Amino acid sequence: MKKRIVVFPGDGIGPEVVGQAKKVLVRAAEMGSLALDVQEFPIGGASIDIFGVPLKEEYLKVAKRADAVLLGAVGGPKWDVVEPSIRPEQALLALRKGLKTYANLRPARPYSALLKASTLKEEVVKDVDILVVRELTGGIYFGRPRGIKDGKKGYNTLVYDRKEIERIARKAFDLAMLRKKHVTSVDKANILETSMLWREVVKEVAAGYPAIRLDHMYVDNCAMQIIRSPGQFDVILTDNMFGDILSDEASMLTGSLGMLPSASIGDKKGLFEPIHGSAPDIAGKGIANPIATIASVAMMLEYSFSRVDLSALIEEAIQEVLQDGLRTKDIDDGSGDVVSTERMGEEIVKRFEHRASQRGIGNVGKTK
Ligand code: IPM
Ligand code: MG
Repeated sequence: MKKRIVVFPGDGIGPEVVGQAKKVLVRAAEMGSLALDVQEFPIGGASIDIFGVPLKEEYLKVAKRADAVLLGAVGGPKWDVVEPSIRPEQALLALRKGLKTYANLRPARPYSALLKASTLKEEVVKDVDILVVRELTGGIYFGRPRGIKDGKKGYNTLVYDRKEIERIARKAFDLAMLRKKHVTSVDKANILETSMLWREVVKEVAAGYPAIRLDHMYVDNCAMQIIRSPGQFDVILTDNMFGDILSDEASMLTGSLGMLPSASIGDKKGLFEPIHGSAPDIAGKGIANPIATIASVAMMLEYSFSRVDLSALIEEAIQEVLQDGLRTKDIDDGSGDVVSTERMGEEIVKRFEHRASQRGIGNVGKTK
């Protein structure tokens, strides 16, 4: 059975980075004998320009039937003037909600070749291995009522119910069991009722995981601790908005926002996207870093298709290009050669192919 994949390149640098990630995906699938059926649709501003809406109902339906979805990024100044309910970002929220991908996994682990690219000291970032588990389909991003009243008053609603907190907590604990068994639950329970409930429910779920060490931390303190001593964290479990902010912060431990992939999973469907945005300032220049999107493909192969063999090879290929001194502009630490988006993608494919054939994957050669 072919695996159905829907690709939404999106706006800004989205199509550039997705273009490279697709090359890696197609080649990995060919060599790994994984039959794919890939369909591509516009989303975000690109879709507004054609259809007047950020995501066509029909494409959302196709995405819901797919086995996995790959997304670039959405948004840009061109669409800042559109009405809030049809902004490009709404497409992303509709997709996350529609696919019921309530758990957003954002790993932040610096590559050894890039330790110097971080703005933090090498000894602070060298042993960092954080997994941010961000709640993705609830909280202030979705709460109602919301709106702007008479141009005078803007309001949003932050709401979480027990079920939403329980399932994300369970996901975080399950993942922590495969790691260092340490969960830091991040909230603002000294001020927000949603956070008070969050803390209570997380503690209840923790009772079923006696092997896990659970800490609670206020979000302001966590933001500070991530910079002060990031090595103390294993899994960070947090809500939608705190997770958005803390994952951007954690990405800087790895040297660049352009390095962080993400997997959004629910009970089955997977949505894979880099954590970075559409970066309109550098779009079309061929200088964007495709590594976060390529690493998101690796997460797809692991989480949606259980092909750890292929995802590990992609990870190794990324490590190798970095060790060989290839850098995109955002991770230029003066130690290597600055290359284009396309060249970075091609070099990763090359190294993937080499490693795969060394391990006897894909001896049958190209299938097309
Ligand atoms: C992210 C992005 C999105 C978010 C935006 C584009 C809606 O910042 O994926 O982190 O806030 O979730
Ligand atoms: Mg974000």
